[in-house]
Amino acid sequence: MRRGLPILLGATVLTSCGGRQSALDPAGPHAQALADLIWLFTWVCIAIWALTMLALAIALARRRPSSTGEPHAPAPDEERPYLRVVSTAVGLTTVIILALTALSYVSHRGIADAPQGGITIRVIAHQWWWEVRYEDAVAGHSFTTANEIHIPVGELTRVSLVSTDVIHSFWVPNLMGKQDAITGHDSQVDLIADKAGTYRGQCAEFCGLQHAQMALQVIAEPRDAFAAWRQSQLAPAAEPSDPERQKGKAVFESQPCSTCHTIRGTSAAAKVAPDLTHVAGRSYIAAGALPMSSGSLAAWIADPQTIKPGVHMPLTMVEPDELNALVAYLDGLK
Ligand code: CUA
Repeated sequence: MRRGLPILLGATVLTSCGGRQSALDPAGPHAQALADLIWLFTWVCIAIWALTMLALAIALARRRPSSTGEPHAPAPDEERPYLRVVSTAVGLTTVIILALTALSYVSHRGIADAPQGGITIRVIAHQWWWEVRYEDAVAGHSFTTANEIHIPVGELTRVSLVSTDVIHSFWVPNLMGKQDAITGHDSQVDLIADKAGTYRGQCAEFCGLQHAQMALQVIAEPRDAFAAWRQSQLAPAAEPSDPERQKGKAVFESQPCSTCHTIRGTSAAAKVAPDLTHVAGRSYIAAGALPMSSGSLAAWIADPQTIKPGVHMPLTMVEPDELNALVAYLDGLK
């Protein structure tokens, strides 16, 4: 145990430095600026701690035991050098705090002064999922998706952020700092990725029972792949050709599913819950709670409250054959 603990702590520190949800593994200029700041603060604090420990060690080494047993009362002459050391330390502390504050301010300004242009998306935080709208001035070129954001690599994506219920916080650590999503107040934040990849984001403000399962994926991809994805999202849901999936579509439209969800191209057009037009093209369902698969879809529909207790998705009473058809239909919505 005594030997295991340092190894465990070391491994924890090292593994938390990398990965697809780490502020210490920046993949864009904004996250890089923040990571630089984190490391600068860390090294300054380590240096100050080391100097403080050194001063303490020197003080302990030079301590003279009192012969009378009474505390030693130093003469004013004796105290003067110590006074000088303490006032220098106070002065240095003030300078360091002001310098770190100024650097923090400069970093923040640099991030806020991102150039105009790029694409704009609207992200709406709900308990406990993310609605993502790609809006376009051209009619028919807008669409809505959920819990997954695609961005072109190396380009700026401006996120206009709002909440519909409580305060949430939008955070993709590899790409940006936290930004609160507040009801009735739009806030802006920018996503820029220098490297293609999938970056996990997470709600970073406690927002109720399923706060921990309010994740999203940001997929940064080359321009062409992004354009192809965007084009594919504009299409309505694929019309099922086989009888099983046709039955699934009918179940979806007749059951309460259609009173909350939209599937473009069907009669389901409600906006309460995630848009499922291309649900099978996403890598997760239920805001990161389950990886996308037919098994996950079946489990989620059959018992959402066990997977995400408190979630606003109600239990839908469907017969086993209807559930199979429903899953087959949804699984085909690429
Ligand atoms: Cu939304 Cu925490």
